[in-house]
Amino acid sequence: MDRTQKYKQLTDLNKEAELGGGIERIEKQHFAGKNTARERIKQLLDPGSFNEIDKLVTHRNHDFGMDKKKILGDGVVAGYGKINGKLVYVFAQDFTVFGGTLSRANADKIVKIQDLALKMGAPVIGLNDSGGARIQEGVESLAGYADIFYNNVISSGVIPQISAILGPCAGGAVYSPALTDFIFMVDQSSHMFVTGPEVIKTVTHEDVTKEELGGAVTHSSKSGVAHFTGSDETQTLMMVRELMSFLPSNNLEDPPVKVTTDPSERSEPSLQELVPVDPNKPYDMMEIIDKVIDNKHFLEVQPHYAQNIVVGFARFGGKAVGIVANQPAHLAGVLDINSSIKAARFVRFCDAFNLPLITFVDVPGFLPGTGQEFGGIIKHGAKLLYAFSEATVPKVTIITRKAYGGAYDVMSSKHIGADVNYAYPTAEIAVMGPDGAINIIHRNKLNDEEKTAAVEEYREKFANPYKAASLGYVDEIINPKDTRSKIITALEMTQNKRKSNPPKKHGNIPL
Ligand code: HXC
Repeated sequence: MDRTQKYKQLTDLNKEAELGGGIERIEKQHFAGKNTARERIKQLLDPGSFNEIDKLVTHRNHDFGMDKKKILGDGVVAGYGKINGKLVYVFAQDFTVFGGTLSRANADKIVKIQDLALKMGAPVIGLNDSGGARIQEGVESLAGYADIFYNNVISSGVIPQISAILGPCAGGAVYSPALTDFIFMVDQSSHMFVTGPEVIKTVTHEDVTKEELGGAVTHSSKSGVAHFTGSDETQTLMMVRELMSFLPSNNLEDPPVKVTTDPSERSEPSLQELVPVDPNKPYDMMEIIDKVIDNKHFLEVQPHYAQNIVVGFARFGGKAVGIVANQPAHLAGVLDINSSIKAARFVRFCDAFNLPLITFVDVPGFLPGTGQEFGGIIKHGAKLLYAFSEATVPKVTIITRKAYGGAYDVMSSKHIGADVNYAYPTAEIAVMGPDGAINIIHRNKLNDEEKTAAVEEYREKFANPYKAASLGYVDEIINPKDTRSKIITALEMTQNKRKSNPPKKHGNIPL
């Protein structure tokens, strides 16, 4: 072969690899409303930034006639590129090649990407679209999965790991995404389940469609497995880019700072009236968040799940933060099993990646009931307590109204390590609300008139922030209109915070 032929050989091999499973299967993929692995990577990354690795890898299987079916790349496109100018590693399962299934060789490609990402301290983004374990490879495929799972765990808390589910994701294959930090799904075209509808029909005799069982709506509103849902693939991948703009590349970096035109001193007079006078009247905590963050830009995580708590990313004075906020507009902002788990996981993510935590508190307590108690609210609520206590990032808390009972302690109180605690004049910091308190203290011993007087006395004494302020549990009672500038001042004050917990192998969060 002369030199020209050698160059042609390379061009031909590249072309062959880029065609994946061939034109027919690519058309089938498009017909199903899905893009190919390469098209997805192109959409995800900054233009022209993708560098492919292991493009010419093929499987090494000889069983079931597979030795006669070899496709360059073997069902996964892997490499590195940039998002917003920053290095990321990416792998995209190619459904046109053996249904994107996992072979030993293609698992090795993913493992190589994970190893590189960990070594270089950059995020990994996996675009999943696969029929699962490649049946012809048996246990070698399972071993490949296990290697990926192991790397997911070892990388957890060191580099951000993101999964986008862009097609089927079944069986044990769901556990790699589950081990990553955030799962994105696409409405209608992505599915995740451990066992599919047919197996469920056989085992439990339940009739369920794959959409009901493991579609984006199910996982974003019922199970809480997914964190973000896009209406189509393009929007989903743009959301991945948006998320990346809030994150550092690894746990040793600070989150990126974005220049903002939103003045730090901006006062928001409308906030003076936002919290209703009637303590039992709901209001939308999102309004407070929107009014105080930079340019109203809030990336909400799990917006359709456990809506009694709001979590998400925003910026103050250009600096990225994580926000945790009780939502009085939903179940009065009560803490229950799902909201505790949702917030705890978010708090731990922020702590791992140096994102300060801004907590807005309006919580009447933990949700009572046998459903909650039998479901283990004790251990699940403890997760949030654990997560906030363990977090060493700057923590700023604003109590807008109720901070009752154990929930007061849990919601990033001074006692569990918050650095700056503010309260609005409308705050009520007490063991419980006035009615409940009087019922317990004077159980059935008061007539209506005496009861009203006792409730009023309790309200005057305890349903305010001044007792807590007199004890130093709240640093400052602030005017709501100044919330933004107060938070930014607190973030500036805490930006060089140095705090570490005692050395240990790892803690034992109540799982
Ligand atoms: C080998 C597979 C395959 C698999 C699909 N294909 N799944 N090849 N092993 N697991 C091949 C098909 O033969 C087909 O090849 C091509 O991929 C596309 O599949 P289709 O069935 O034509 O596509 P579609 O109709 O869109 O259906 C997609 C699907 C279905 C829903 C994913 O293929 C399916 O149910 N596959 C089996 C899924 C499964 O049970 N996997 C094992 C899960 S257990 P041709 O050549 O015809 O194009 C598991 C364990 C992991 O993954 C454990 C980790 C610990």
